[in-house]
Amino acid sequence: MFSRILSIISLLYSLNGFANQLAYQQDNALIKEIIAKDHPCISNVIDNRIYANVKKVVLITGASRGIGLATAHFLANKNYCVYATARNVEGLDAGESENLHFEKLDVTDDQTIQNTIGKIIEKEGRLDIVINNAGYALAGPLECLSMDEIQDQMNVNFFGAIRVCQAALPHMRKQQSGHIINISSEQGTYGLPYGSMYTSSKAALESLSEALSIELLPWNIHVSIVEPGMVATRFSVILGSREAEQNPYAKICEKITNSLTEERTPSPSCQTPEEIAQFIHTVITTPRPQLRYQTSKAATDLVSRFLKDPSGQEYLDWIQPLISEHYSEPD
Ligand SMILES: NC(=O)c1ccc[n+]([C@@H]2O[C@H](COP(=O)([O-])OP(=O)(O)OC[C@H]3O[C@@H](n4cnc5c(N)ncnc54)[C@H](OP(=O)(O)O)[C@@H]3O)[C@@H](O)[C@H]2O)c1
Repeated sequence: MFSRILSIISLLYSLNGFANQLAYQQDNALIKEIIAKDHPCISNVIDNRIYANVKKVVLITGASRGIGLATAHFLANKNYCVYATARNVEGLDAGESENLHFEKLDVTDDQTIQNTIGKIIEKEGRLDIVINNAGYALAGPLECLSMDEIQDQMNVNFFGAIRVCQAALPHMRKQQSGHIINISSEQGTYGLPYGSMYTSSKAALESLSEALSIELLPWNIHVSIVEPGMVATRFSVILGSREAEQNPYAKICEKITNSLTEERTPSPSCQTPEEIAQFIHTVITTPRPQLRYQTSKAATDLVSRFLKDPSGQEYLDWIQPLISEHYSEPD
């Protein structure tokens, strides 16, 4: 028994060394193919060791400006291979960077998602990190929001992230690793009057992320929620256009309209997109990432008033044993 354990340990050591050597070889595809044929399990270990030493491949949605664009530049400078996507990428320039690629991706359009992820897999062979960032806010009293506007809000902020996850997950499962970062908001943890649909879309994203964080653990895929407070970007806030009967909300709507033109400038209560980018980098380099993160102390203080578990750890500690009792290992 003891000698068996020793031989397994020495096999793991030699795999480790072997994988490190392979990392520096250009053409390891043939070796991987030979190993994969007879030892698919060992092949996965080698794959993940090889890629631990090469550039991680990142997909960011909503990266034409604001937090998404700042994160794309920050990660490209940190030597990640970044696919920065948005509905319209014309005029976006990667400059000298060989790590930054702009691609068209509309999170409400399955075809553009399939095309871009297909292209990434074809060129890079893998997808390590997905940052679901695309989003905007629909504002106004519920009676002043049309059903089309409400559906569009959910379609971008919530269903958009689902579409991207569904397209990315088969690849992450195959490579047995991955990290999905869902950009929510501190407002995802409480309902904001006159922002009911924005906060509902973020709350839905948070609930989805909680569930996925457990569902995907068997494949070593992590899910994290990032909750910024106010950030100095040109964040799109759209006022609902539905005419409410006798319009009792006219004054409120006027106040919202006036607030839309107010410029957000960095201050202790308003972070810069670069600060959020740096924060996201910390999240993706953490070996055992948390489920839930606030991007500033002010955001943590606020979220902690309503949520007794701002990191999500208590939830994970409760649900993980329950789930493993009821479900066996995946095939
Ligand atoms: N700024 C804040 O105070 C703040 C606070 C908390 C959370 N957040 C969250 O952070 C994320 C980014 O916000 P931001 O402040 O950086 O906003 P932003 O500057 O307005 O950027 C939003 C990005 O989303 C993209 N987008 C919108 N609809 C899209 C669609 N259908 N498909 C693909 N991309 C789409 C926009 O690209 P195009 O319109 O060019 O396609 C843009 O690149 C959002 O999810 C937001 O809810 C922001």
